[in-house]
Amino acid sequence: MVFRSVKITLLSAVMFFCSQVVAFQSTVATSMITPARQTSALHSSLDPLGPSRNAASSPEMKKKDLRTFQRFLEVECWKNGEIRNLDRTLLAVADACKQINRIVQRAQTDDLYGAAVDPLTGELAEENVQGEVQQQLDVLCNTIMLRAFCGASNNVVCAVASEEEPLPRSCADVMGYDTSEFNILQSGEYVAVFDPIDGSKNIDSSLPVGTVFGIYRVPDGASAGKDGVNLDNFLQRGTKMVAAGYCLYSATTVLVLTLGSGVHGFTLDPDKQKFLQTHPNMRIPGIGSLYSFNEANYREFSEPVQKFLTNMKQAGAIGGKKVSSRYVGALVADVHNVLINGGIYGYPATRDNVNGKLRLLYESAPMAMIMEQAGGAGSTGHGRILDVLPPQRKKNSGHKKSDVEPDDDEAGKGIHVRVPTFLGSVENVYELEQCFKYYGEEDN
Ligand code: F6P
Repeated sequence: MVFRSVKITLLSAVMFFCSQVVAFQSTVATSMITPARQTSALHSSLDPLGPSRNAASSPEMKKKDLRTFQRFLEVECWKNGEIRNLDRTLLAVADACKQINRIVQRAQTDDLYGAAVDPLTGELAEENVQGEVQQQLDVLCNTIMLRAFCGASNNVVCAVASEEEPLPRSCADVMGYDTSEFNILQSGEYVAVFDPIDGSKNIDSSLPVGTVFGIYRVPDGASAGKDGVNLDNFLQRGTKMVAAGYCLYSATTVLVLTLGSGVHGFTLDPDKQKFLQTHPNMRIPGIGSLYSFNEANYREFSEPVQKFLTNMKQAGAIGGKKVSSRYVGALVADVHNVLINGGIYGYPATRDNVNGKLRLLYESAPMAMIMEQAGGAGSTGHGRILDVLPPQRKKNSGHKKSDVEPDDDEAGKGIHVRVPTFLGSVENVYELEQCFKYYGEEDN
């Protein structure tokens, strides 16, 4: 009996011990699992893709209720009869920006790099009009923009000029239409100019790049020209532009657009792949403390520009903010920074490049229109960029103005004409022009 009770006690002790071991093991197991669970819970709240799946339930990452670019265009184009039929074209341009954004994002991982190769001959591409060997990426982005402007189904754009092409092209040519079948060359009320990928060297070091574009109305009564290109339709003052914009591929992808009544900014929602109106009615500060010049060229700048920069630095602070220099080396990125924060962007004439580096038609003029529409200014140092008339064709007697004349190749270079460029807050640009007045040479 005593023996039996000892046996029971021993059995209970063993059972108790076993239960403790199980409890201990499960505690250990829990304590080993818990941190991992906690970590994964933590990760899921920080997971950049997580919130898109739980957008509604995650208060930190809740989507803002923003107007889409499409809706904006529908309303703006409906309000303004002048540009009523441009909405599809501009939507196509926004889509092109999305495509270029994806290409830029993949530039390091996908085989898009290197000089372009002629698909027929297999030979490396030659230098473009800018004296640079075209890269695959340039060719691809150029094709995307050409098709955006020419392929929008309502054919409102009749011809296009690109930084990547020596001469403008008709949309019929771009789209490969059979021009003998119907009068496609005569259709289209606008011409478009663009730089598909501005500052493309920045891609090597994962820095921002951009796309710039402008749209001009074909003057009343102007003919489509031989083969659908009338150079006169391109060689117009910037004041004749009906729309200008840029896309910036940077920390965020941004589309900034003016249709001649203010400037609006849209950010690409990476989850929805839609441009949303994050910056309605953009206004540049009247004065700013930021200057954005390639100061390595300082000794090559003219005296007025040198004086202006020295004055800015000596001021120490402007508008209550410390003077600061910022230069990314991509026009779109630098100008966007100035537009948001105020100040001045400049690419002045240098000793070697008497007209600076930037192209009037598809860089300086669209940016100047955006600046002016945002309450800022765009100047050559001596006057408004938008008033600059590109070099005109020689009017040979015996030829009608609309005909392509023997000197058109030469005149076509007017498409790529350069102009000293200063863009920014009104007060800063005014100061700059004053420097040209007081320190400039007589013949300026
Ligand atoms: O289009 C010319 C461009 O790439 C601009 O985007 C940019 O502002 C400029 O050249 C930079 O030139 P630089 O390297 O001479 O400062």
